[in-house]
Amino acid sequence: MTVMEAIEKRKSIRAYLDRPIPPATLEAVLQAGRLAPSARNQQAWKFVVATEPALREQLAEACCGQRFVAQAPAVLVLCADQAAQMRCGQPARTVDCSIALSFMMLEAAEQGLGTCWLGAFEQEGVRRALHIPPEYDIVAVSPLGYPAEEGRPRSRKPLEELVVRERWAD
Ligand SMILES: Cc1cc2nc3c(=O)[nH]c(=O)nc-3n(C[C@H](O)[C@H](O)[C@H](O)COP(=O)(O)O)c2cc1C
Repeated sequence: MTVMEAIEKRKSIRAYLDRPIPPATLEAVLQAGRLAPSARNQQAWKFVVATEPALREQLAEACCGQRFVAQAPAVLVLCADQAAQMRCGQPARTVDCSIALSFMMLEAAEQGLGTCWLGAFEQEGVRRALHIPPEYDIVAVSPLGYPAEEGRPRSRKPLEELVVRERWAD
């Protein structure tokens, strides 16, 4: 599968099969995150993987009751240590973790697994469930598992609406 094929295949999946993820497959997804770039290569992140049913239940609650979080056999929680800003003013750790999770989502797609980036979660609820130390921010959560649905049809703005070539029009 090419990178573009994985990009096209990936969709947000909100229903999962009750089928375990083989350890080597989970490892491949985590490796994709490990190989992601990060600001000054600091890799100041932790990838928490929750598979115990009781933990997944608590995470579903902390994710504003999104039930499919408990349904998936694993939940990925991307955590970034310390608040660091880049020269450009953007938060380095948020960007770092976003890249890492994106890489993992693409590898998951290649492996036939579904994911769904979740921004709707309560920081403290996720922290409590997984005993995440206070110096870590929780950047993103995603269920991981074999899809029980195709995902919604893709709708995207056309490139002409998105791309500025050379200079922004006045
Ligand atoms: C930063 C971010 C936060 C999101 N939060 C949620 C969420 O809390 N719950 C959810 O069901 N989907 C969430 N999504 C998924 C988006 O709704 C989805 O990516 C978008 O509708 C495009 O669909 P696609 O991922 O299938 O291409 C989030 C996506 C991103 C990138």
